[in-house]
Amino acid sequence: MPTNRQLRLQARPKGLCAPGDFQLAETPVPELQDGQALAKVKYLSIDPTMRVWMAVDSYLPAVAIGEVMRAGGLAEIVESRHALFKKGDKIVGLTGLQEYVVIEGQSKLPFQKVPSIPFVSDTLFLGVLGMTGLTAYFGMTEIAKPEKGETLVVSAAAGATGSIAGQIGKINGCRVVGIAGSDDKCRWLTEDLGFDAAINYKHPDWKEKLAAATPQGIDIDFENVGGEIMHAVLDRMNLHGRVALCGLISGYTSENPALENFATIIVKRLRVQGFLVIDYSARFMDAATQLGKWKMFGKIKDRETMLEGLEKVPEAINMLFAGANTGKLIVKVA
Ligand SMILES: NC(=O)c1ccc[n+]([C@@H]2O[C@H](COP(=O)([O-])OP(=O)(O)OC[C@H]3O[C@@H](n4cnc5c(N)ncnc54)[C@H](OP(=O)(O)O)[C@@H]3O)[C@@H](O)[C@H]2O)c1
Repeated sequence: MPTNRQLRLQARPKGLCAPGDFQLAETPVPELQDGQALAKVKYLSIDPTMRVWMAVDSYLPAVAIGEVMRAGGLAEIVESRHALFKKGDKIVGLTGLQEYVVIEGQSKLPFQKVPSIPFVSDTLFLGVLGMTGLTAYFGMTEIAKPEKGETLVVSAAAGATGSIAGQIGKINGCRVVGIAGSDDKCRWLTEDLGFDAAINYKHPDWKEKLAAATPQGIDIDFENVGGEIMHAVLDRMNLHGRVALCGLISGYTSENPALENFATIIVKRLRVQGFLVIDYSARFMDAATQLGKWKMFGKIKDRETMLEGLEKVPEAINMLFAGANTGKLIVKVA
C-alpha cells in the first residue's frame, strides 16, 4: 500500500502561519473496508477560512491539534468498496491536507462527484464552479440582489470570490467598482473582466479615487475584507443600501476588530446580512450550471494562481493575506 503524506496541525498560529504550525506526517494508506473508497487528492483549495479553522471555533469547530488540517480539495477515486463511488470518479469535498483520503458513509458536508467535461479543467470545480464561485453566486443573487443601474462595490475584487461577484454585478447591469491591492490586479478587473473602475487601496489617495468612481454613491457593498476598506465603503453608501457580508479577511490574522463604526449602519439605515455558502448546498448543482453557462459564453472570466506540492500549503495560506494571488489559489498535490 502507498504512503499517505499529511499536514497535521501542530500549533495554533499567531498572525500568519509559521513553519512550526504544521507537522508533515507519513502514514500507511489503510486497507479498504466494505463501504469505503480511497481517493488520491489532486488539487487543494486554499481558502482564508483555513486560517480561522486553525485558530478558533466558528461555523465549524477548530481543527484539533494533531489532526489532519481541514481543507477542500479535488480527488480521484483509485479504489472503491463504496456503493456511491467507482474507480476513476472525480470528487470535491473536504479532503484535508493529505495525499489520500478514505471516504466512508456520508458526512454533513458530503463529497460531490464532478463531471468530466471536455476542455474543462478539473480545477474549475474549486474556483468558478466550486466553493468560491458559488459563494459569489449566492451572495449576489440571494443577499445583494443587484438591480440595473445600481452601484456595486466589491472588496478583495481580484480574488476568487470577489472577481466572480463583480462580474455577476455586471451581468445584472450594475456599475461595478472593485477594490484590490495592486495596479496589475486593477488593470485585470477593468480591462479583462469589464469592471467600470478599480481602486488600488495601497495608493495614498485611494479614498478620493473611490469617491470619484462612485459619483452616485454606493447601493451594494459585497464585503470580503472589513476594517478600513469596509469603513470607507460604508461612508459612501446610499440610504437603505445593502451589505452582503461575505468575509472579513483583514481581521483573520490580527487582533483588531474588522468593524468598529456600527453607527454608520444606523445613520444610513443599511441592511447588512452575513451569509455562508454551505447553507445553499441543496442548490449547488443549479448554481454551478448557471456559472458554467456564463463561463462558456465568456460572461465570466477567471484566473488561477497555482503552487505545487503539499508542503507548499502553509506558504500558500499566507499568500492570501499578502494578496499574492490573483483569482483562485490552488495547490497541485499529485
Ligand atoms: N461567506 C462564505 O460562505 C464565504 C465563502 C468563501 C469565502 N469567503 C470569504 O470571502 C473572502 C475572499 O475569499 P477568497 O477565497 O475568494 O480569497 P481571495 O479573495 O482569492 O484571496 C484573498 C484576497 O484578500 C485580499 N486581502 C487579504 N488581506 C487583506 C487586507 N488586510 N486588506 C485588504 N485586502 C486583503 C488580498 O487581495 P489584495 O491584493 O486585494 O489585497 C487577497 O488576494 C474572504 O473574506 C473569505 O473568508 C466567504
